[in-house]
Amino acid sequence: MTLTSPDPKLRQRFASDYQRPTYHFLPPAHWMNDPNGLIQWKGQYHLFYQYNPHGAFHATMHWGHAVSDDLLHWRDLPIALTPTPHSPDEAGIFSGCAVNHDGVPTLIYTGVQGAHYEIQTQCIATSDDDLLTWAKYAGNPLIAEVPDLAGQTRDFRDPFVWREDDAWYMVVGSRIEGRSGVIFLYRSHDLFTWEYLNPLVEDNRLETDWMWECPNFFQLGDKHVLIVSAGRPNATVNVQYMVGTYANHRFVPETVGLLDYGYLYAPLTMLDDSGRRLLWGWVREGRTVEAQKAAGWSGVQSFPRHLTLTADGRLRMEPVAEIVDLRAEHWHLADVSLAGLSEQPVGGVDSASLEMVAVFEPGATGQCGLKVLASADGTEATRILYDADTQQLIVDREQSSLNADVDQEPQTAPHVLAEGEALELRILLDGSVIEIIANQRTSLTSRVYPTRADSRGVALIAQGSSGYLRRLDAWHMKDIWTER
Ligand code: FRU
Repeated sequence: MTLTSPDPKLRQRFASDYQRPTYHFLPPAHWMNDPNGLIQWKGQYHLFYQYNPHGAFHATMHWGHAVSDDLLHWRDLPIALTPTPHSPDEAGIFSGCAVNHDGVPTLIYTGVQGAHYEIQTQCIATSDDDLLTWAKYAGNPLIAEVPDLAGQTRDFRDPFVWREDDAWYMVVGSRIEGRSGVIFLYRSHDLFTWEYLNPLVEDNRLETDWMWECPNFFQLGDKHVLIVSAGRPNATVNVQYMVGTYANHRFVPETVGLLDYGYLYAPLTMLDDSGRRLLWGWVREGRTVEAQKAAGWSGVQSFPRHLTLTADGRLRMEPVAEIVDLRAEHWHLADVSLAGLSEQPVGGVDSASLEMVAVFEPGATGQCGLKVLASADGTEATRILYDADTQQLIVDREQSSLNADVDQEPQTAPHVLAEGEALELRILLDGSVIEIIANQRTSLTSRVYPTRADSRGVALIAQGSSGYLRRLDAWHMKDIWTER
């Protein structure tokens, strides 16, 4: 079999699509969802992803593959995993992970069968040419049966594997019929034969009818963290994290939070060679299936985030430090009183590809924030606001697009500031993607689809605010495919 990498020129046909991100990873074309199989191998970062090579819609899942030396620039590699007819993955290769098995690169994934993917089993594949081509194990699947406790046999997927003491452990996402999501814990001594142990979380505090998909379980500082995507199709608030204690194969959550209040879904983490826990997530679309097909692409990966813990046991998230290498033209504003101010353009900014850091003293009442993707004639703009009265972040998308067929409802996230704490907004704006992280702990990912090529302005905005802008820095970001 000859494998060819996607032609890099494929990307050029989207050069004039200003809704398409230019510094977030996405495949040359077609559909992408979850990040898969993250691993650093011989220094290089490998990113696999749920991919449909036949169009910008979810079907016939493959694993796409890209590699990076610096977490910023990516090179497309040939598709890593393709469904094999008459096999456990004949209807698709669903999500999973990668491990280094004594020097053998190994992918562990869910193979699906059936018109509605009703048979889901855990499978394995290995590579002997540094992750370029993959051989599926002839004895697949490794795990064929859902534990009886599930009371259903259909939702059982997204293996996440790690090494602990002298054994391998795996968690698999699932659902207890009529009750809640569940994470099943397994152990193996050879990575091929698996023994079911027990549900990872006994006291399930997040009772929902939905399954828990895409589990991640790892140590962070002196705690353990479980991340689950709570399988609610199209709900926007559904990636949960729990921080707690792990002993005797049981995890007891102490803190529960939402990892994102918007479009980020099915995140996957990895430990890199420098010991950083890094996270990518699928940034879903906020436009119709028809619009995605017409665009020719769908789905973006979030910019990689570095995870640590806050002193009070919450997840702290920041874009990886490498991001500074993408910064180009810079704008700066400082010391602006917001009293009586409604809008002040940040002169010269003309970009839909920006990193911004804004530090506000929001004051006791009113709203303050930034207007982005603003057209010169005022017909299009997206407002990112902090409401001091309700202590909420708001993305006001009412005017974000002249196209009525895209998501335009407001998004909100509770964001309580401690006494005297400034509001720090870190904003990664990239075409139709807006990642907002407030004070490194509240994440709100948005999608907006301006129709005008000149919707590229930025302004400081306020309403009834007694607050103060300490500083605003904005950088135009280089295109990772065409600029170094
Ligand atoms: C999450 C998910 C996973 C599954 C994959 C299929 O978005 O539903 O549970 O493995 O997508 O594409």
